[in-house]
Amino acid sequence: MSNRRSFIRNNAMLITALSAGYKLGALNPKSILHPEGLPDESYWRMVRAQFPLDSNKTFLNNGTMGPSPYPVLEAVKAALEKTCRDAQYGGGEMEALEALAAFLGTEKEELALVHNVSEAINIVAHGLPFSKGDEVLMTGHEHVGNALPWLNRARLDGIVLKVVPLGKTAAETLNNVNAAITKKTRAIALPHIPCTIGQILPAKEICALAASKGLWSFIDGAHPPGMLELNLHDIGCDFYASCCHKWMLAPQGTGFLYVKKEKLDLLQTHGVGGGSDTGWDMLSNPPAMKGYAASAHRYYYGTQSAALYHGIRAAINFQNTIGRKNIEQRVRGLASYLQEQLLALGDAVEMLTPTEAASRGAQIGFRLRGKDNKAFYEQMAKKNIIIRHVPENGLDCLRVSTHIYNFREEADLFVSEVKRYIG
Ligand SMILES: Cc1ncc(COP(=O)(O)O)c(C=O)c1O
Repeated sequence: MSNRRSFIRNNAMLITALSAGYKLGALNPKSILHPEGLPDESYWRMVRAQFPLDSNKTFLNNGTMGPSPYPVLEAVKAALEKTCRDAQYGGGEMEALEALAAFLGTEKEELALVHNVSEAINIVAHGLPFSKGDEVLMTGHEHVGNALPWLNRARLDGIVLKVVPLGKTAAETLNNVNAAITKKTRAIALPHIPCTIGQILPAKEICALAASKGLWSFIDGAHPPGMLELNLHDIGCDFYASCCHKWMLAPQGTGFLYVKKEKLDLLQTHGVGGGSDTGWDMLSNPPAMKGYAASAHRYYYGTQSAALYHGIRAAINFQNTIGRKNIEQRVRGLASYLQEQLLALGDAVEMLTPTEAASRGAQIGFRLRGKDNKAFYEQMAKKNIIIRHVPENGLDCLRVSTHIYNFREEADLFVSEVKRYIG
């Protein structure tokens, strides 16, 4: 069937379903969403209709939180109902691990299911065998979630954090990292995409550099999964922390820590509980724990939410149905369009996100020269245009995110507001 005919058929199915009174969430997204070619605008309208997003809001802040589409909400609701109907918790974990491993290009034994990025980062920052004076490379663009666990380790054990400046290109950033490595450097702990200006760092090249110098590589990957079609084995990092509740569009309270198989015994687990062990006995003499789980399950434990696990799986299904390449092209295309419109405003806008395509993802960071950036952000919120003000690290800039539910008209509306503000 030609692409055009398949779009017409898809749209016709949606319209028929809607007029028959179906709730969108009750539809099997596979039957209506899978594009057989490059999606056009009408396809993306159909995708937008899968989100309960308030139509009075222009939501350009996915970098803070990813609203889930109906199929995810339905999956969570159904699983929660089942848990309460059966009065039995558990379930969904293996399926979530398998789906995530396939989505990320890892083995399921390399994934720990955690609740947010900060939790995963704490496991790494406190689990690596550092000695006093060991240096860890970071950036001046950290989110509190990556900054505090390492600052705490510095406070507790005397490791030294060194700040590497971001370059305007991937090559420049790689050079900066290389130049910052000393005899005392033991690890890098860099963001793949910092929360501040959304620049993509050359993670694969940085991890290869780290490996070539015998350094441990940790990546704060809060943003890439669900935005970029990434493969963690290909990136080659030792550890990667992320959430499923931003670009993947899964429910809040879902996340993962990737630990390369060979590094499981290096990264000491401190928090343990049911699921982390290979057996324990309080009645032996002395009472003893046999050992740690052979997988990354050693890092998480206790009662978990089946509903959230089902939510992760539904979010991955949703993304796979649309097609990850399609998503990446769409969201980066919208951001590049937005950046062009902002650059066209001239000197009044200080563009902070690189214009190099490889370094630009789906978030644009900039400042309005000589203007109160926070006041502009607050004014936008009053007009129901939701963006992010970035106070972190004294940056005082603005960040705009674009995801699959956004359109060029929303970028245009936002840029017209910028124009009005700068006068
Ligand atoms: C780059 C980065 N790292 C870490 C975090 C912390 O994430 P969480 O709130 O899921 O712990 C965020 C959150 O926005 C982030 O953007």
